[in-house]
Amino acid sequence: MKRKIAFITGITGQDGSLLAKFLLNKNYEVHGIKRRASSFNTKRIDSIYQEHQMKGKKLILHYGDLTDSLSLYDLLNKIKPDEIYNLGAQSHVAISFINPEYTTNVDGIGNLRLLDAISKLKFKKSVKFFQASTSEMYGNQKKTLNENSDFMPVSPYASAKLLAYWNTKIYRQAYGLFACNGIMFNHESPVRGENFISKKTTKAVAEISLGLRDVLYVGNLNSYRDWGYAVDYVDAMWKIMQYKKPEDFVIATNKTHSVRNFIELAFKRVGIKIAWKGKGIKEVGYDKKTNKIHVKIDKIYFRPNEVEYLKGDYTKIKKLLGWKPKVNFNQLVNIMVDEDLNNLKKL
Ligand code: NAP
Ligand code: GDD
Repeated sequence: MKRKIAFITGITGQDGSLLAKFLLNKNYEVHGIKRRASSFNTKRIDSIYQEHQMKGKKLILHYGDLTDSLSLYDLLNKIKPDEIYNLGAQSHVAISFINPEYTTNVDGIGNLRLLDAISKLKFKKSVKFFQASTSEMYGNQKKTLNENSDFMPVSPYASAKLLAYWNTKIYRQAYGLFACNGIMFNHESPVRGENFISKKTTKAVAEISLGLRDVLYVGNLNSYRDWGYAVDYVDAMWKIMQYKKPEDFVIATNKTHSVRNFIELAFKRVGIKIAWKGKGIKEVGYDKKTNKIHVKIDKIYFRPNEVEYLKGDYTKIKKLLGWKPKVNFNQLVNIMVDEDLNNLKKL
C-alpha cells in the first residue's frame, strides 16, 4: 500500500508536534511548515528531526507561513498530500486583543489561503483537510455545547477562527472538498506553551516545590474550562480524517473545572494544600500548613472580554468514530506537574 503523505501547518506547536509523532508511528510521510525565526523554533520536534541529507526520511520541514499564499500553493502542489492538518495559528486568546489584525490574518485568512489553494489543485478531490476550530467560538453560554450550538465569539481570536470554521464548511459545499472542522475544547500536555494557564501553573508549582520561586501570578481564577489531554485530541483529529465523509465534530471531555481547581490540584501533587483568602484582585492562595503565599492576582492577566464557562458534549464523535478521552482532568494535571518536576531535576 502507498505510504500516506500528511501536511501539517503548526508542526512546531503543541498539537502539531504530537500529531507528527502520531502519524510517523502510523507510517505516514510527514511534511510540515516552520516559520523563519532568528533562533530555532523546532524544540518540540527535535526528538523526531531527520537530517536534510538523510535518505528516505519521513519527516520533512519546509519554510512557510500561513500569511504567504504563493508558497502554500507551491508546497501543496509539490508535496501532493493525502491529508492536510491546519493547526497553525496565533493561538493565544489574550494576545489576540493586542494583535487583532495579525491574529485575523493568520487564523482566519490563513485558513482561506489554504482552502483556496486546495480548490485549485488538480488532485483536490483526493485531498482531505482538517481545520483546528475552537470552543472559543461559542463565547459565553453557560451550557454544554455541541455541534448544533450557536456561536457567539467574544475575542478577535474566536472571530478569526469562526471565519475559518465557516470557510471550511463553504469550501466543502461549494467545491466538494473533504474538509472538516474539529471543534476542540482546551487540551494540554507537557509541551503546552508556557503562557497558557495549565503549563504556567504546573511549571510554577514544580519550581515552588523545589524552592526555586515563591509566587505564581494569575488572572481570573473563576473561569471554567473543559480540559483534555492533547495526545487524545490528535488521535481524534486523525479519526475525523478517516471517516467516510467530511463532517464537523466536537472534541471534548464533557467535564469542566475552574482555574482555581486546576491550581489546587497542581499544588496537591507536590504535597501543598492551598487555601484562599481575600477578595477580587486582593485574593491570594496560601499554603495551609506554612501560611506562605504562593498565588497572587495580577490584573495584567485579565482579558477585555472573558469566556467564563466551557463544557463540550462529545456524543457525536463517540457514536460515529468510537473516540472518547482516555486521560481525565486529575491525571492530566499530574502528568504535567510530574514532567515539569522531572525536567527541573535534570537541570
Ligand atoms: P500552539 O502550540 O500555539 O502552536 C501554534 C503553531 O502555529 C506553532 O507551530 C506556530 O509556529 C504556528 N504558527 C503561528 N503563526 C503562524 C503563521 N503565521 N504561519 C504558520 N504557522 C504559524 O497551538 P496548539 O495548542 O498546538 O493548537 C493547535 C491549533 O489548534 C491552533 O490552531 C489552535 O488555535 C487550535 N486549538 C487549540 C486548542 C488547545 O486547547 N490547544 C483548542 C482549540 C483549538 P511557532 O512555533 O513558530 O510559533
Ligand atoms: N493564559 C492565562 N494566563 N490564562 C489565565 C491566567 C493567566 O495567568 N489566569 C487566569 N487565566 C484564565 C483565562 O482568563 C481563561 O479563562 C483560562 O484561564 C484559560 O486560559 P488559557 O490557558 O490561556 O486558554 P484559553 O481557554 O484562553 O484558550 C485556549 O483554549 C482554546 C479552546 O477553548 C487556547 O489553546 C486556544 O487556542 C483554544 O482555542
